[in-house]
Amino acid sequence: MVILKSKHEIEAIRKACQVVAECHRTIAPLIQPGITTNEIERIFEGIILKHGAKPYTKGYKGYPYATCASVNDVIAHGFPSDKPLEEGDIVTIDTVAELDGWLGDSAWSYAVGNISPTAEKLMRVTKECLDLGIAQAQPGNRLGDVTSAIQRHAESNGFGVVRDLLAHGIGRDLHEEPNYMHVGKPGKGLRIKEGMVFTIEPMITEGTYYMTIDADDWTARTLDRKLAAQYEHTIAITAEGPQILTAQ
Ligand code: MF3
Ligand code: CO
Repeated sequence: MVILKSKHEIEAIRKACQVVAECHRTIAPLIQPGITTNEIERIFEGIILKHGAKPYTKGYKGYPYATCASVNDVIAHGFPSDKPLEEGDIVTIDTVAELDGWLGDSAWSYAVGNISPTAEKLMRVTKECLDLGIAQAQPGNRLGDVTSAIQRHAESNGFGVVRDLLAHGIGRDLHEEPNYMHVGKPGKGLRIKEGMVFTIEPMITEGTYYMTIDADDWTARTLDRKLAAQYEHTIAITAEGPQILTAQ
């Protein structure tokens, strides 16, 4: 079931989303060699709690933290740790805030100091994939228009698109329908309708799109241990087009 949201409900979701946006805005200038992902975790949790919101991932299906911190070959769901980030790392920070029962979800990749040209290209192309996907999220289009734009851009740059982790509808629940992969064909899939709220969150890999999961049951890594990046926004479909609720 796809749960359509009223304009009033979209404004409530935007408030939750803007708490997440503030987390990312705050952390962006602080990410540099030496900071730990546990410090980032505490900053995110502090901002979420300050707004009277809840760190939704903490306890979600047993996930222990307010953020996911995914370094280098980690695609998603990495645990924050006390290991300092190092020059040349890339790290994706993902969080979900719950405010007044509504959820906002956004992930962002960050460069730690100077990074390799390959890492820089991967981050740039991944962000472009998100932007190209959002541009296709028009009422009347189909999800395949969104996902094929993402897949075409990633693959034409020699990168892979992760299949095993999905984008999702979002509202009062984190994973509402539609749950969908970031690959597809133009003109195929669910028709996009005013009132839909869903994430677009391409996970793009330097090499293979296959992944493994660590013994902690969460940490998803590329099979070939090459780099992965991810940018995620929560978007609402309006008559005028997509609105980025987690816009920073
Ligand atoms: N952004 C993630 C998602 O799209 C947030 C969930 S992380 C989890 O599902 F660890 F809590 F599952
Ligand atoms: Co998500």
